[in-house]
Amino acid sequence: MVCLTAYTAPMAEILDEACDLLLVGDSVGMVLHGMPNTVGVTLDMMILHAQAVMRGSTTAMVVVDMPFGSYEGSPEQAYANACRVMKETGAQGIKVESGPTVPDTIAYLTSRGVPVMGHVGLRPQAVLMEGAFKAKGRTELERERVLAEARATADAGAFAVVVEGVAEALAREITASISAPTIGIGASPACDGQILVAEDLLGLFDWSPKFVRRYADLRGDIGRAVKQYADDVRARRFPGEAETYFAKG
Ligand code: KIV
Repeated sequence: MVCLTAYTAPMAEILDEACDLLLVGDSVGMVLHGMPNTVGVTLDMMILHAQAVMRGSTTAMVVVDMPFGSYEGSPEQAYANACRVMKETGAQGIKVESGPTVPDTIAYLTSRGVPVMGHVGLRPQAVLMEGAFKAKGRTELERERVLAEARATADAGAFAVVVEGVAEALAREITASISAPTIGIGASPACDGQILVAEDLLGLFDWSPKFVRRYADLRGDIGRAVKQYADDVRARRFPGEAETYFAKG
């Protein structure tokens, strides 16, 4: 499964054809809004970005991340907020990070008609408890915990499980032991698919995670284009259209 994040209509339009699934990730908080992590992202932000992505996407499945604080309180809270997302955006599913208490909520949602994707391993919304974004499954205890969470997530009815920041052996073990497809991010090719933050592989930032191959240099291209534009304006080179525009009145 080919999956990428998308947060805006034009990006969704460009990515749609190549992707099976577009995720309106809460990484939008860091990637587009300059937040230090995803904790500050709100449900209203997710809905606004998801509406934009739905306008740009035609064939890929669109899944929307439930942000921190919108689903952990109770299954009822999760259901009310998930219904808002589904009704107000028209997206085909939601994603939740599957900590120890969340599989019960996933079961509650899926049994009431909400398609849910889980997310195990490194869970970015847990960053304040963990102190940093840390790879998971390095110790035997952690390995067992991640495996148990993946199994519980799939057993609760998740249609797919994102597996983030785990070593290949654990990714392989999860993929072999659950029925739902696994979608890795920093989790080796041992998963059924991969998801990345589109801006990372397109080179929008001067930094990207080690596991990301950069397929483009958007940062360099934008910088060069804007410098050229600035040079043109300062030299009063207003290319062609200006004359046509003013001639039209
Ligand atoms: O928010 C996000 O972008 C994610 C990923 C899996 C990339 O959760």
